[in-house]
Amino acid sequence: MRAVLVEEFGPVDSHKLGEIDPPTPGAGEVLIDIHAIGINFPDTLMMQGLYQTKPERPFTPGRDVAGVISGVGDDVTGFKVGDRVMAIVPWGAYAETCVAQTVRCFHLPDDVDYVTAAGMATVYMTSWVALMERGGYQPGDKVLILGASGGVGLAAVQIAKAHGAFVVGGSSSEERGKIVLENGADAVIDLSVDDINENLRQQVFAAAGKEGVDIVLDPLGGDIFTAALRTLAFAGRIVCIGFIAGIPTARANYFNVKNVTLVGMALDLHFRFKPSVIKAAAEDVLKLLAEGKIAPRIEGTYDLNDFQTALSQFKATKSPGKLVLTTGRS
Ligand SMILES: NC(=O)c1ccc[n+]([C@@H]2O[C@H](COP(=O)([O-])OP(=O)(O)OC[C@H]3O[C@@H](n4cnc5c(N)ncnc54)[C@H](OP(=O)(O)O)[C@@H]3O)[C@@H](O)[C@H]2O)c1
Repeated sequence: MRAVLVEEFGPVDSHKLGEIDPPTPGAGEVLIDIHAIGINFPDTLMMQGLYQTKPERPFTPGRDVAGVISGVGDDVTGFKVGDRVMAIVPWGAYAETCVAQTVRCFHLPDDVDYVTAAGMATVYMTSWVALMERGGYQPGDKVLILGASGGVGLAAVQIAKAHGAFVVGGSSSEERGKIVLENGADAVIDLSVDDINENLRQQVFAAAGKEGVDIVLDPLGGDIFTAALRTLAFAGRIVCIGFIAGIPTARANYFNVKNVTLVGMALDLHFRFKPSVIKAAAEDVLKLLAEGKIAPRIEGTYDLNDFQTALSQFKATKSPGKLVLTTGRS
């Protein structure tokens, strides 16, 4: 089968498509004939050896797939050959087939196509778990979503609005800020300002009221994280999702001033330690999709053969939305 192979960690354009034997599902695993593969920011980090998980080489990168189960290992219950599924694997998705533990597989309703499902998996599940489980969302909470035009951010905007939040989205671009508004945010703030430490608080208070916000979802880190701490209301929660702008340090006194809680967020650990949360996330995300309350922005699709073009487009694109690879299966 065709599969992208990372022989040694390196820039995304140093990796090639190769031919390898299809994997065999082990106990508790299924084999998936992949139709569509979602591209995510962590894929590019893993290819370069910059992600916290560093697989033995050679390996196949990629985490989000949608397709049809074509084999089952021992001790599999609840899934059978022919089932349409979306799955989030640790790696191995940029290929024509992959194996997935059943805890990482979700049945697809008939009317959800493979490209949509592959474009949703990691970003919508991450946003849901960050908001609902780690952020302790309560209906009507005010939520500040940083990096709101990104994959995780835009999904978070949609999910929070669908659950009745007052949403403030942060973007560094006026054009992308408009898209954040179109996706349901009540207000957008500018993250490109010079004096972010003071200015972020002023913008958030102007948008959400001077008590501040109940939850901050932060996929950015850096100076923006420190500034965002100052926007929280009493007993607010800030959820660390990612560090695109750098890994920040924080003075502990910030947490005392308003009884603020700093919460870590790692989606992958939930498959092992909190599968019930993963199940609840998938059920709610697919329900909201069916109700038309959320919808991923699919920016483009590329054949798996053209993964290099897709990844360079992913790096270059300034337009919010997901890029998806397809394997040619109809
Ligand atoms: N914790 C987890 O389990 C988990 C799971 C999935 C992803 N993540 C992490 O979440 C983060 C976001 O992923 P994503 O897929 O949403 O990424 P993305 O689609 O690339 O979007 C990130 C957004 O951040 C903004 N941005 C980009 N570079 C920036 C910089 N240097 N400083 C400030 N803002 C910047 C951009 O928005 P504007 O241009 O509009 O400002 C961009 O739209 C990544 O670090 C990823 O690794 C974590």
